Amino acid sequence: MYPSIAVDKRHRTAYGAVLFLVLIPLYYASWQYHAARPSDPSPAHTTRPPSTNFVGDWLSVQVVEPFDPSALRHHCKSTEWRPTLIFNLDNANGGIGNVRGNILDFIFSAIEAGASIILPGMAARSSTDISNVWGGHAPFDAFFDQAWFFETMGKTCPQMTIYRSAEDVRPDNVMPDNYLPSSRRIDLGEENTKQAYLEHLDSWLKSKPDYSPANRTLVNLERTLWDIDTRSLPPSLRRSLPQSLRLNPSIRRLAALATQTLAFQTPLDPLAAIPQKAFYAAHLRTESDAAAAGWLANANANFSAQTDAYIAHALSHDLRTLYVASGNASELARFRAKAGAHDPPLTVTSKRDLLPPDALRDLDALTWDQQALVDYEVLQRASVFGGFVKSSFSFGVAMARGQRREDLARVAEPWLVQWTEDGVAFDDGWSRIVGRDGWHEERIPRGMWP
Ligand SMILES: *[C@@H]1O[C@H](CO)[C@@H](O)[C@H](O)[C@H]1NC(C)=O
Ligand SMILES: *[C@@H]1O[C@H](CO)[C@@H](O)[C@H](O)[C@H]1NC(C)=O
Ligand SMILES: *[C@@H]1O[C@H](CO)[C@@H](O)[C@H](O)[C@H]1NC(C)=O
Repeated sequence: MYPSIAVDKRHRTAYGAVLFLVLIPLYYASWQYHAARPSDPSPAHTTRPPSTNFVGDWLSVQVVEPFDPSALRHHCKSTEWRPTLIFNLDNANGGIGNVRGNILDFIFSAIEAGASIILPGMAARSSTDISNVWGGHAPFDAFFDQAWFFETMGKTCPQMTIYRSAEDVRPDNVMPDNYLPSSRRIDLGEENTKQAYLEHLDSWLKSKPDYSPANRTLVNLERTLWDIDTRSLPPSLRRSLPQSLRLNPSIRRLAALATQTLAFQTPLDPLAAIPQKAFYAAHLRTESDAAAAGWLANANANFSAQTDAYIAHALSHDLRTLYVASGNASELARFRAKAGAHDPPLTVTSKRDLLPPDALRDLDALTWDQQALVDYEVLQRASVFGGFVKSSFSFGVAMARGQRREDLARVAEPWLVQWTEDGVAFDDGWSRIVGRDGWHEERIPRGMWP
């Protein structure tokens, strides 16, 4: 008996050693194989003759595509619709990151309630003080592609009437104060179900003396942000609802023109959603409103920390051409000087450097937040992206790119980097978010629509 156990043990050690010796070369070979292959297996990697229609080609690509209407269609079909209930989003506000979140939460809340909607607009930032985000009102198409929204919602959710303006609604009743939908963050509280939300809405409506379900009732909704646990939804629904929001095509066109000029500096295939080894994009979030909000006083947040991190990240991916998004020309100039003086030197460029004169005039006619949309598009299409943790704009770029990775089944644990590196919140291989921030790190991973 005993000897056989001893033999077993020896065998096991021998097996282990053989297995180990076989696995190491296999593992190495597989690593070599993957390292040699581009991470985005889109057709863009086959060699193609240079594009003769760069702008058109670039515009024909979305980072999250194709649009799959079936999940949203199914969701709308399974809703109990209430023809007399109309929702209006009272106060979406901020830049694209927040406004997009407000509007998508709003549409989702309306679908769950079976309500029709007024096409949502948003508060506009003051042109003289960018930290005042309540400077006026802007319509839906200030940011978004209105024709595409009507087309996709009409295809997927024909049960929902979308009124173009408040004047088209003619309600019998307008509820006197705003309704704040109850949270749908089921990850933060298991009571936050759809049923609980609908009961909350109904009891709110019934508490209003003028309410009658037979009357056409207009309810102004208070905005919410990342207040739905999108990861608790079917993944196809989480993916398809936000696809109804594309950016305004005339603004996207400026992004395409800027990228076209960039392609003279670094080879870049316009048909690649994420072109490999072409350029690094950074969101330098150090403008005066960020400083006024106290953001830059935190660790890993000021100008030198953000720019150090972006330079190191770009170099770690072997990229020396940096497209930098910033709402402040002098901050951009500082970054350009710093990158140029770096050893090895890096080239910093921006939309204003890249746009031809007539396009620059179009850019100047836009508001501060609209100009940022040009960056929002270019950043999404970078080889590698670096952004800042307190910025929903940065996270929005990273999440869209992350959805594409999910679509390609490129699994990564982007939050792991929080334990392996200091002062980095997110890294999925395509996008990195620099800095740490408890609130955003809690709200965004499950609350932001990709
Ligand atoms: C709306 O409801 C009120 C009672 O709450 C009623 O007097 C009124 O006629 C209704 N209006 C319409 C158009 O149904
Ligand atoms: C731009 O940055 C400079 C510092 O580089 C600052 O003095 C100025 O107030 C900023 N302006 C805006 C609009 O952010
Ligand atoms: C910028 O932030 C870094 C790292 O958080 C810190 O070490 C440095 O002192 C800060 N610089 C300034 C000018 O505040």
